[in-house]
Amino acid sequence: MSSSGSHIANIRQDYSLAALDESVTGADPVAFFQKWFDEACAAQISDVNAMTLATVDDSGMPHARIVLLKGIEHNAFTFFTNYDSAKGRQLLTHPKVSLLFFWKELERQVRIEGVAQKLPEADSDTYYHSRPEGSRIGAWASPQSQVIEGRHVLESNYSKLAEQFSGVHMPRPPHWGGYSIVPSKIEFWQGRSNRLHDRILFVQNEAGSWERCRLAP
Ligand SMILES: Cc1cc2nc3c(=O)[nH]c(=O)nc-3n(C[C@H](O)[C@H](O)[C@H](O)COP(=O)(O)O)c2cc1C
Repeated sequence: MSSSGSHIANIRQDYSLAALDESVTGADPVAFFQKWFDEACAAQISDVNAMTLATVDDSGMPHARIVLLKGIEHNAFTFFTNYDSAKGRQLLTHPKVSLLFFWKELERQVRIEGVAQKLPEADSDTYYHSRPEGSRIGAWASPQSQVIEGRHVLESNYSKLAEQFSGVHMPRPPHWGGYSIVPSKIEFWQGRSNRLHDRILFVQNEAGSWERCRLAP
């Protein structure tokens, strides 16, 4: 193995901050997610709401990227994006997704599986209009996931749109809005010593109730 390879192979972290068991998680995984999220906020973890979103395309190829969690409404996880982007096109035919949070400072990981559905237009409007002006123009200016000739395309789109909408109401672009992910599986992982980590998995049964089990690490 090359020296950099052996260096990588020797990177190890022992986890010993906390433990996780069924008495802590309770029976409602979304409520418990909210509790862990609040703890992550209190720990001032940067980009605490950044989550990996995995989708699949028609060939079965998975695609993963970071998006920002923007809310938990009616037990579903919300994010915003461009509906014409690669992920937007994948979600049209393959709405099953996976979300992943890693809060390393707390030695915690949360894995969520579920189905994505577009938010009602009124909810996307509300969030869009709450954003700073530069972000609102940016949503119009960027043909997300498309090949562009150079950065100048974005700069020029942005300047033209800023002028066009100067002093004028800027509507939400029809191709931009939110998705909510309705979860059917949520797994909480807490790092422990000797790689004997705690994993508590919640799976929704056909009646819609959550069933809980412990997985080997
Ligand atoms: C910290 C961070 C936050 C991001 N938040 C978002 C987001 O909320 N929505 C979004 O569409 N892209 C977001 N992105 C960009 C995506 O990772 C990705 O580049 C983009 O959505 C295009 O993905 P796609 O071509 O697979 O559709 C974020 C990237 C980073 C690193």
